[in-house]
Amino acid sequence: MIGSVPIHGDLILAPMAGYSDAPFRSICRAFGSAISYTPLLPDDAIVHAPQQSARFTAFFPEERPVAMQLLAKEESRMLAAADKLMEQQPDIIDLNAGCPVRKVSGKGRGAALLLEPERLARLASALARALPVPITVKIRLGWDDNSRNHVQVARMLEDSGVVAIAVHGRTREQAFSGRADWQAIAEVRAAVDIPVIANGDVRTVADIEAIKAVTGCPAVMIGRGAIGNPWIFARRDVETVPPEERAVVMRRHVHKMVAFYGEELGIVLFRKQAVRYVQALQGSAALRRRLVTYQTEAEVLTAIDEIAGMAPAAGAPPQRVSTEGGV
Ligand SMILES: Cc1cc2nc3c(=O)[nH]c(=O)nc-3n(C[C@H](O)[C@H](O)[C@H](O)COP(=O)(O)O)c2cc1C
Repeated sequence: MIGSVPIHGDLILAPMAGYSDAPFRSICRAFGSAISYTPLLPDDAIVHAPQQSARFTAFFPEERPVAMQLLAKEESRMLAAADKLMEQQPDIIDLNAGCPVRKVSGKGRGAALLLEPERLARLASALARALPVPITVKIRLGWDDNSRNHVQVARMLEDSGVVAIAVHGRTREQAFSGRADWQAIAEVRAAVDIPVIANGDVRTVADIEAIKAVTGCPAVMIGRGAIGNPWIFARRDVETVPPEERAVVMRRHVHKMVAFYGEELGIVLFRKQAVRYVQALQGSAALRRRLVTYQTEAEVLTAIDEIAGMAPAAGAPPQRVSTEGGV
């Protein structure tokens, strides 16, 4: 449960700006991702550019439960943005306290909130008091190694009425370098009674079981390891997915992109996803180079037909085509 919202499953697609849009989220959802998180959206954009923002928070009905993620620093503007988000009837509102990007954290938002735990707790508490849906927060371990405060922050958030915390096991300074510290996530889990979602460096089924064992967390959030690999939510390693099955999912994905964005933008945005679906396949380098040049759905579909006939990933055992995760 996240507050009053039942969650069916223990694997969750991470919010990822530029990747976790409605088409990709709905594909991951069908394979078993238990919550659809929309990518971070700044409160001022939600308030001042509601039309543009709506594309990032739009979701398909089958994605529920949906968590919409807010980027904020100041209470009144955050609440105005949250009210606006509530018009789309999300199931959960999530506050971002982890984004390391300078243009975000330089303005005191995202991971910079970890430098001001009292402010972060105040913001979370204001959301919890104002909104009728559960409030969650996504954090890192702290700003840098000298100021790790994950346990203190988690306790403050729990006291503020937050009902679940996702923890990416790195500091802001680390950005995406080094290894995620799963032991530190275990410290958060042990310090609070609310559910803690473990996040960082999960790329294989073995990683899922390992992070659960180390952290004791009831749920695992997967980001980069899910790009080109929605099968991870069905606990299947990507190398074991035969080319023809990848082709089935790629066709579904490109259709959804075109339906959601229109052909021109949909195909451009699909390119970076497409190359990830095929990168492990033997002899796919030339195809990857072509995939990033296509402009039309017809061109992409023809290339996908080629994929169906390609050799499987190196070292992959032969497998039956499965329709698991089909929508
Ligand atoms: C391209 C990209 C975009 C991201 N965008 C967001 C975001 O919008 N909100 C957020 O909370 N985290 C964001 N993250 C961080 C991920 O949610 C996740 O915490 C991080 O990638 C670590 O998990 P992983 O090792 O499974 O990728 C982003 C990460 C990447 C790689």
